Amino acid sequence: MTVLAIETSCDDTSVAVVRDGSVLSNLISSQPIHDTWGGIVPELASREHVKAIGPLLHAGMQQAGVTMEHIDAIAVTTGPGLAGSLLVGSHVAKGLAIRHGKPLLPVHHIEAHIYSGYIEHQSLPFPSICLVVSGGHTSLVLVRSYTDYVVLGNTRDDAAGEAFDKVSKLLGMGYPGGPHIDRLAKQGAPDAHTFPRGLAKDASYDFSFSGLKTAVRYHVRDAEPLTDEDRANICASVQRAIVDVLVMKTMRAAAEYQVHAVCVAGGVSANSELRATLASRCAEEGLQFAAPRAEYCVDNAAMIGFLAAQRYAAGERGDLHCTIQPRGLRA
Ligand code: KG4
Ligand code: ZN
Repeated sequence: MTVLAIETSCDDTSVAVVRDGSVLSNLISSQPIHDTWGGIVPELASREHVKAIGPLLHAGMQQAGVTMEHIDAIAVTTGPGLAGSLLVGSHVAKGLAIRHGKPLLPVHHIEAHIYSGYIEHQSLPFPSICLVVSGGHTSLVLVRSYTDYVVLGNTRDDAAGEAFDKVSKLLGMGYPGGPHIDRLAKQGAPDAHTFPRGLAKDASYDFSFSGLKTAVRYHVRDAEPLTDEDRANICASVQRAIVDVLVMKTMRAAAEYQVHAVCVAGGVSANSELRATLASRCAEEGLQFAAPRAEYCVDNAAMIGFLAAQRYAAGERGDLHCTIQPRGLRA
């Protein structure tokens, strides 16, 4: 089965062609226009998607060596995300589906992230525990099959990526903050400061990162002016606090639900300490571990096409009446 997939939920336009679980092309066009505004401007994001989507569709299909004749279904992200951005992708997908008489397969963006670890590890056993960590989401999920999962916990305030971004801002470093902190942490001492591990002792699988951000704010206020060494030590200690609590709850869930595999997904899964710690803890416990490569960690259409095809094979069908759902994770 060959699926043409479109993702426009936020500020990246992406088109992919996925055939029988293999990614033939996965093109991502980002939007530097937001850099000057210090955050994503929804109206500009929609307009940039409108500009990018046509040429990207052409290039993605050309790279995959396919024409519309080879496409069996059109998959598209219908939420969550920015309403205007979602509308661009979903209307293009509907137009193609109507014009070429193909089935339309709506896909939930976070669900696609959940399964992104399976793209390159399709033999990974179910059930598994997936930790989804991005700039907007932090969820721990028990994954039973491509169509069945249970959300065990969520963040109660900031997402993990948001914590990295806010700490980076407090330290006068750039956005997105995760890569800056990851890099500088390598030069610092992770035990230089003990920052809060939110909800670490709580029996739930929920997370909380707002206390950490506040602790760093007070620490920076009292310690200014900061030297390069201070900054590196703060980065290493903050990263250790975030990774500690993410890994601890992930491993606890893996033990409680007796799974054989653990996956990590979303932008924060690029974090080197998080990947290394999860990999070594899983090895100690005899669990398989999968972390998607960088292009499947960020927002991408390959994960949309991959999940759509798995669900189509399992009998799920969409229809042309599907609408966008800007908010919420189906739990
Ligand atoms: O999934 P994503 O690309 O976008 C959405 O949130 O939808 O995630 C972006 C987030 C940002 O908060 C960024 O700081 C974080 O992922 N991130 C990282 C790293 N690379 C990106 N966080 C920690 N370490 C990294 N190496
Ligand atoms: Zn995402």
